[in-house]
Amino acid sequence: MTDTPIPIDPAGDKLTGIRGETLSFKADPFIYNAETCYDHQQDGLIIIQNGHIIDAGDYKSIRPKYAELQEDDIDHYHDSIILPGFIDTHVHYVQSPMIGSFGDTLLEWLNTYTFPTESKFCDKQFADEVAREFFKQLLEQGTTTANVFATTFEESVDAFFEESERYNTRMISGKVLQDRNLPDSLKDTDTQESILIAEKLLKKWHHHGRQLYAVIPRFAPTSTPTQLQLAGELYQRYIDQGVYMHTHLDEVQSEIDWVRELFPEMPNYTEVYKHFGLVDRLSVMAHCCIVREEEWEILHRSGCGVAHCPSSNLFLGDGEFKYWEAKNATRPLRVGIGTDVGGGTNFSIPRQLGEAYKVAMLQSKSLDALKSLYLATRGGAEVLHLENTIGSIAPGYEADIAVIDLKPSEFAEWRMKFTSTIFEKLFVLMTLGLNNMNKATYIAGRKVYDRNRESKWMYAKELTD
Ligand code: GUN
Ligand code: ZN
Repeated sequence: MTDTPIPIDPAGDKLTGIRGETLSFKADPFIYNAETCYDHQQDGLIIIQNGHIIDAGDYKSIRPKYAELQEDDIDHYHDSIILPGFIDTHVHYVQSPMIGSFGDTLLEWLNTYTFPTESKFCDKQFADEVAREFFKQLLEQGTTTANVFATTFEESVDAFFEESERYNTRMISGKVLQDRNLPDSLKDTDTQESILIAEKLLKKWHHHGRQLYAVIPRFAPTSTPTQLQLAGELYQRYIDQGVYMHTHLDEVQSEIDWVRELFPEMPNYTEVYKHFGLVDRLSVMAHCCIVREEEWEILHRSGCGVAHCPSSNLFLGDGEFKYWEAKNATRPLRVGIGTDVGGGTNFSIPRQLGEAYKVAMLQSKSLDALKSLYLATRGGAEVLHLENTIGSIAPGYEADIAVIDLKPSEFAEWRMKFTSTIFEKLFVLMTLGLNNMNKATYIAGRKVYDRNRESKWMYAKELTD
C-alpha cells in the first residue's frame, strides 16, 4: 500500500471527489501496534478518476493539487464517517427469500427451509428477482464486495453475475457443487457434468469486468469423494488465474461428527478438504467455530481465509468463533466478516460486528471497534487476497466506498453527544445496530445507492455523465 498519488489520466473520466471524515486501514491491528494500522482524517478528501482512487488525505493538503476538480463534483458529507465499502466474506444470495426462518439445528434448518428454497433457482426469472433484491440489500448497507454462494443451477449463477455487472460491483460467486445428501430437486444428477458446468461458468464469468469465480463444494457431507476430487482438480487448474474455492468448515459439532462418519480415514475435517486439493491460498472457509490446533496450522500454512459469521452462529446455535485462536500471532489467519444470510439474520456488516462483540464476550474476550472495523474492510480484502485492490482508501484502490451516518436517529444523535473518539462513536453504532446507518454507497466511484435520492438504487450505466 502506498500513499503516492496516481497521475491524472488526461484522456480519462472527469475527476470527482468525496469530502468528509475518513477512516481506512493499512495493516492488521491484531498483529501490529493498532495505532499504526489506520489512517483517520477529520476533514479528508478522496480524489477519484476512472473508478479508482487517485489520491486521498487531508482536505487542505490535497485540494490545491487538483484545480481541474470542480467544486460541484465533490460530494461533501457532514456528521458521517467515510469508509472503504464493507466486504461480506460469506453469504448465500439464494437464501434471501428464507432469511428469518425458524432455526432449530443447522441440519434441520437446511432440510426444512434451505434446500426447498434453493431448489427454485432452476427458474431464471425467480433467480433474477432474488438477485435484484439481494443487491439492493447489500448496497443499502454499504457492502461493496461479497463472496457469495449461488446454488446448483446455472441460472442462479448467471442471474447473480448479470445483476452485479449492472452495478459494476466486484463480486465473487459460482455454481454450488452438491451431489449427495440433498433432495433430488437440488442435487447434481451427474457428477462429471456438474464440473463441466462449473468450468463453463468459470470461463464465462471469471474476470468478466469485475466479476470473479469460485469453485464451491457446499460442504464435505453434500459432495461425493469423486465430486470433491474433481472440484479440487478444477480449482488447482485455475488458482493461478485467481479462481477461488469457497466452502463451509467446522461450523457445528453435529456437522463435524457427520464428516467423521463419512470420512473415517481422515484425521480431521480440514484434512478432508486438503486431501482433495481444496485447501490452498485462495480458499475461503466459512465459520471455523470448532477448530483443532492442527487444523488452524494447516489453514495458516496454506494461506486460507476465514469468514466469521456471528449472527448466523448465534441464530443456528453453532459453535463460537474464537478470534484469538484465528489471530494467534505465531500462525495468524486472514479473517473477515460474513453475514451468512439466510443463517445470518440481516445484511448489515456493522450489525455483524455488534454480534461478533457478543460472541467474543461469551468467552470473556472483547473485540474493540478498531479491530472490528478492520475485519469488516481490509480484513475481508485480505481473506480474498485483494488487499491491494479493495478494502482501503488510498491511491490505486478501486473506489468502493460507504458513507456511514454518525447520527442515524434522533436517539443516536443525542447519544453521540457523550462520545469523543471516532472509535467510541463506531462502537455505539455497531452496538445499537440501527438499520439506516448508511447514507451512500459508491461503486468504482459511482454513487449507486443514495438514501436521500428519489431513485435510491441506480445501475452504473444510469450514472454516466
Ligand atoms: N453448511 C452447509 N450448507 C450451509 C448453509 O447453507 N448455511 C450454513 N450456515 N451452513 C451450511
Ligand atoms: Zn453459509
